[in-house]
Amino acid sequence: MKIFLETYGCQMNVSDSEIVCSVLAAAGHEIAPALEEAEVVLINTCAIRENAYRKIYGRLDRLRPHRLRMIKEKGHFVVGLLGCMAQNLKKDMFKHPVVNLVVGPDNYRALPDLIAKLAARDQIKQTEIDADLSEYETYQGIDPKRFDGVNAWVTIMRGCDNFCTFCVVPYTRGRERSRSLSDVLAEVHRLVAQGFSQVTLLGQNVNSYQAEGLSFADLIVAVADVPGVSRVRFTSPHPKDFPDALLEAIANHPNICKHIHLPLQSGSDRVLELMSRTYTGAEFLALAQKIRRSIPNVSISTDIIVGFPTETESDHQKTLILLKTVGFESAYIFKYSERKGTIASKKFPDDVSSALKTSRIVALFDTQREIALEKNRTKIGSTLNVMLEGESDKRPGFQVGKTEGNMTVIFPQTPHPLGTIIPIVVTDATSATLLGKSQSLSMPVLEMF
Ligand code: 5AD
Ligand code: SF4
Repeated sequence: MKIFLETYGCQMNVSDSEIVCSVLAAAGHEIAPALEEAEVVLINTCAIRENAYRKIYGRLDRLRPHRLRMIKEKGHFVVGLLGCMAQNLKKDMFKHPVVNLVVGPDNYRALPDLIAKLAARDQIKQTEIDADLSEYETYQGIDPKRFDGVNAWVTIMRGCDNFCTFCVVPYTRGRERSRSLSDVLAEVHRLVAQGFSQVTLLGQNVNSYQAEGLSFADLIVAVADVPGVSRVRFTSPHPKDFPDALLEAIANHPNICKHIHLPLQSGSDRVLELMSRTYTGAEFLALAQKIRRSIPNVSISTDIIVGFPTETESDHQKTLILLKTVGFESAYIFKYSERKGTIASKKFPDDVSSALKTSRIVALFDTQREIALEKNRTKIGSTLNVMLEGESDKRPGFQVGKTEGNMTVIFPQTPHPLGTIIPIVVTDATSATLLGKSQSLSMPVLEMF
């Protein structure tokens, strides 16, 4: 059958969609380039905040006329929901009139059978569901079908055992489990052979990686040592367990990018405790300072939640102060969104008003924008190693790339193939982007004589 797959949410979902494509292709299905050509549409969903749900419901509503048209023309059309929202809402998803397949993140191997069962019946509103979490599924042995680009996502562990009180992930992705080192390395070797320049290691909490007595630091070093890997990135570590061995690995391996995404969530010890984050603001700051001491020119990004239940103006001020003190290169800031089934939803009413959440998010955004602008301006005149990722959508004749610190750089067209690391001289900066020119192009031979 021809199957169209749409992906929402985080990089883990992108990586899972690549697994789904591989499972479907092995069963003889074809991935359709456009919805119009497909008999099955699969939507890989996110559950992290309410607006992720809103987006999916909006998408399902918009699918209604298309589905009716397809059923009229062909007699059948399957709409399948995959991923975190499917796992969280399970058969409640069938309340939406278009959905007839629900498959959780640990059940993708069952997709071909479920689709075959639906296709074998001629009734329109038949349903199939498989949303059972597994303690073991790591999709060992499946070679994900890659989407285009210079970066390849490699999931090294699945699930989360931390149960931060606000977070739905432990319920939608289940318990922590790691892939074997040999399976990960075999995948990385294949990626190099396929021409990928960068590998990003993914896990809900990468420092919980544990397989055959090996830690995440052991794993990342082994990946960095695979010949042909130009850059290795990873996301995300939890601040509660950031081992020195990992800092050393990053500092000592030129191809491990000097960028660490370290989710803070709040700068208030009281709120951090209610969130069950198991560190204080002072401990987070000490870790950030140690990271900066150990890895010169490291860039640190973060996640912050505003308006967690009971958050006061004084708690918010503590977050603002810590944001300034750490001086993050970038920050993702979210309004607290109550998630069904989480500890916070059972223990703490969502009592910070929407207006207060908005004013706090704006205050943090504005401060972070100033910090980022100031930091980016200090880079003007310096030369940075930039991996060429593609053409600029906004500026014709310009290309885009990423620095080691994950900053986006825009520069005039170069003759290099995608994935090449080019020295770029930074000529200007905004809070979000650097502007530059290729060093080789800025000094043409004629000018030198
Ligand atoms: N509400 C708002 N933000 C959330 N995050 C996780 N759960 C919630 C929630 N219920 C944020 C955290 C996490 C990031 C991936 O999403 O900041 O680090
Ligand atoms: Fe969610 Fe906390 Fe696990 Fe991250 S560490 S996925 S925030 S429960």
